[in-house]
Amino acid sequence: MKKILITGGAGFIGSHVVRQFVCNYPNDHIYNLDALTYAGNLANLSDVEGLLNYTFIKADITDEAVINNLFEKYRFDAVLHLAAESHVDRSISDPFSFVKTNVLGTVILLQAFKNLWMGNWEGKRFYHISTDEVYGSLGETGFFTETTPYAPNSPYSASKASSDHFVRAYGETYGMPYVISNCSNNYGPNHFPEKLIPLCIHNILNNQPLPIYGNGKFIRDWLYVLDHAKAIDLVFHQGKNATTYNIGGSNEWTNIDLVKLLCQLMDQKLERAVGTSEKLITYTTDRPGHDLRYAIDARKINAELGWKPSVTFEEGLSQTIDWYMDNQAWLEQVTNGDYLRYYQDQYNTLLK
Ligand code: NAD
Ligand code: DAU
Repeated sequence: MKKILITGGAGFIGSHVVRQFVCNYPNDHIYNLDALTYAGNLANLSDVEGLLNYTFIKADITDEAVINNLFEKYRFDAVLHLAAESHVDRSISDPFSFVKTNVLGTVILLQAFKNLWMGNWEGKRFYHISTDEVYGSLGETGFFTETTPYAPNSPYSASKASSDHFVRAYGETYGMPYVISNCSNNYGPNHFPEKLIPLCIHNILNNQPLPIYGNGKFIRDWLYVLDHAKAIDLVFHQGKNATTYNIGGSNEWTNIDLVKLLCQLMDQKLERAVGTSEKLITYTTDRPGHDLRYAIDARKINAELGWKPSVTFEEGLSQTIDWYMDNQAWLEQVTNGDYLRYYQDQYNTLLK
């Protein structure tokens, strides 16, 4: 039985990865370590919490003594590291939290793993889950490949780029077996409603304005979160050592076109007159340093590991909307007092 540590498993992507591993690998034991920040929610995993090969550990990756003790106690064979501060807008107002969790927290995990297995790396692996934002912004053409130079533009992406470099450096310096993947924008169930898609779903449900930064022509490459979880499974089990894999949806949308599609789908599902939700679209002040376009070239993971997205955007978006409509108690719980304060600070307006 392998002991696999997944950090950030109570968050959006992490919860889908935990479920994927707990359910598909009953002979491995999955430890989900999470500090349960505003973005972490154990309700995301209520269906697996009773399974025998699953353990939740509440801990902060920036607490070095606690992390060292946990690694000595459990002697994890592998780490899948997803815990992070993940929202670009929050990184603009509070960069230090991003340096602390994303950089220092990652180094504390690397050091704990190294202290445990240095000289005995056989069968061990540190898998760092990262983002395409480390590559900076594309113009109207081209794609990010695994060799695109790093050029992060936000404090969030700079912190993720830094953590990627530390992982690689532990591989070079200490021989730590590692793999890194850099993925494009995810969407799907359990996505915290500070991010564009769940924020708009929540606001459409509540007849609130849909804030579009700048001219709305910024482009993202969207991937259904369950397809990302499957890619992570493949990279973890079959990816080559000391290698980076780019993961993306080959699914580019301008923000404004995406929000209009969301409005159309939700008008149908809510049986509202055509055009009702689009009237909520409100152009707002742009995000500072806003990256124009992300787009992943996913040929390497396709050729080496046979991965490709399984869900079309229309299917994935429709399933995502259905999930939010069926789980309004979840949405109510995460849009409580702290969220309302965040929303007012970020958008200069009260959410009613
Ligand atoms: P999220 O914000 O939904 O979840 C992050 C989780 O990490 C939460 O459960 C939170 O409680 C936990 N966490 C935060 N700080 C912690 C700390 N100090 N100690 C322990 N736990 C802590 O994030 P997400 O969107 O699920 O992203 C997960 C990972 O995937 C991140 O590393 C992110 O950079 C990366 N990523 C995200 C996307 C995306 O589109 N969301 C795309 C590519 C890569
Ligand atoms: O590319 C991967 C990254 O995708 C991940 O690493 C990040 O963790 C994740 O948050 C996401 O970053 P983005 O900044 O692209 O996602 P976000 O949902 O915040 O914004 C998507 C686009 O929508 C972006 O161009 C900004 C715009 N936007 C966002 C919000 C929240 C708006 O126009 N209005 C909004 O209110």
